Amino acid sequence: MFRQQIINLLFKEVKLKKEEITKLIEIPPDFEFGDYSFPCFILSKKQKKSPIEIAERLSKKIKTTPIINKIQAKAGYLNFFINKNKLAKEIIKINANFGKINLGKKKKILIDFSAPNIGKPMHIGHIRSTIIGDSMMRIYDFLGYDTIGINYLGDIGLHIGKLIVAYELWVNKQALKKDPVAELLRLYVKFCGKEKPNSREEIQENEYTKKAKQALKKLELGDKKTEKIFEDIKKYSGKGFNKVYDMLNIDFTETIGQSQFEKKGKEIVMNALEGGIAKREKDGAIYIELPRGKKYILRSNETASYITYDLGAAFERDKKYKFEKMIYVTDFRQEQHFQSLFLILKLMKYDFSNKLVHLPFGTVKFGKEIMATRKGDMILLEHVLEKTIEKAKEEIVKRKTKGNPEKVGVGAVKYIILKNEPARDVQLSSIFLCKSLFNN
Ligand code: ARG
Repeated sequence: MFRQQIINLLFKEVKLKKEEITKLIEIPPDFEFGDYSFPCFILSKKQKKSPIEIAERLSKKIKTTPIINKIQAKAGYLNFFINKNKLAKEIIKINANFGKINLGKKKKILIDFSAPNIGKPMHIGHIRSTIIGDSMMRIYDFLGYDTIGINYLGDIGLHIGKLIVAYELWVNKQALKKDPVAELLRLYVKFCGKEKPNSREEIQENEYTKKAKQALKKLELGDKKTEKIFEDIKKYSGKGFNKVYDMLNIDFTETIGQSQFEKKGKEIVMNALEGGIAKREKDGAIYIELPRGKKYILRSNETASYITYDLGAAFERDKKYKFEKMIYVTDFRQEQHFQSLFLILKLMKYDFSNKLVHLPFGTVKFGKEIMATRKGDMILLEHVLEKTIEKAKEEIVKRKTKGNPEKVGVGAVKYIILKNEPARDVQLSSIFLCKSLFNN
């Protein structure tokens, strides 16, 4: 359609047959030179003018159209530029499946993304993994892959112990039902305040921390009351996550807690030890010597660490799905973790170890600081979306136009995330253009 229009435009101005013009048109090697290009050298002999001159003359004579919106002469070529805005609209109007090819042939791609921690709200730091991961899912889906989205919830760690204690002491059930995210955050921040009674920067280990550790121990030992509280925390926390996922229209194939892989992870550690790949320290900790140094895969008190769970999870996922590729979407700070994970699996000769990819992205910063849950100074994802939808509503009224504020608002957030190259850090103020949006 574009080529044809260009041929017609040229046909009126040059003394060549349409077939000749068709043959001559080229696709330039770089977008800088336009989308199509017509070399004027062949006309040079006939017209006894330099190709540069001919191209210049043609560029002035041939008028742009709504579709071909720029025509430029360069070094004897006449370069044509297509109006990309119009192109995108036209293509989608004609066929929403434009460009769809069956590249994947139903091969399985696993994407591990979003992965918030139970009990903590989803904040601005989760926005990139969630949106980048989801759009990768959509792209792979579109290309005919069987795409499996996994939400690997952080359901272990001291913060869980802290929340359990805080819940026992101070929960307001009504508030929890009404706004689970806000109430869980209030509990967590209150607890951290108790650990830090004077306003020095570092949190003190005190009786509260001890209680939190005890609560974790009780959970491990299967104490019924503690388990019940943890179930509640998981349930309400999940409600908070789902609200955000619903707003973003995101679905996961599987949502599963990290803790589910403890047993398998430890088994793999033991295999590594038996196979001579891993070694034990005097204090009992188990490590593997990697080029970068020792990587501990089990703590001295036999407890699992972050990587222990990931070893187990990778193994189980391969067993369950037999994937072609697995992509982990997290921020750059976890780069070494994933490099170590992949290397260990390779050393252990798991055949899926060469199918693993880490897709890192820069952090979202607010001024110079990265937000911390314990301070409660976070910008919640839910609020970001609500505010943007509100803003979209206002704009729709102001511009006297039609539109669905949810779609416009959520679309704007997605757009701004995807527009930024993942590798770059993003300043919150630049994401939302006006910080003032969040000041009221
Ligand atoms: N829950 C982790 C975090 O908040 C991210 C988990 C990423 N996935 C993984 N398989 N380790 O940092």
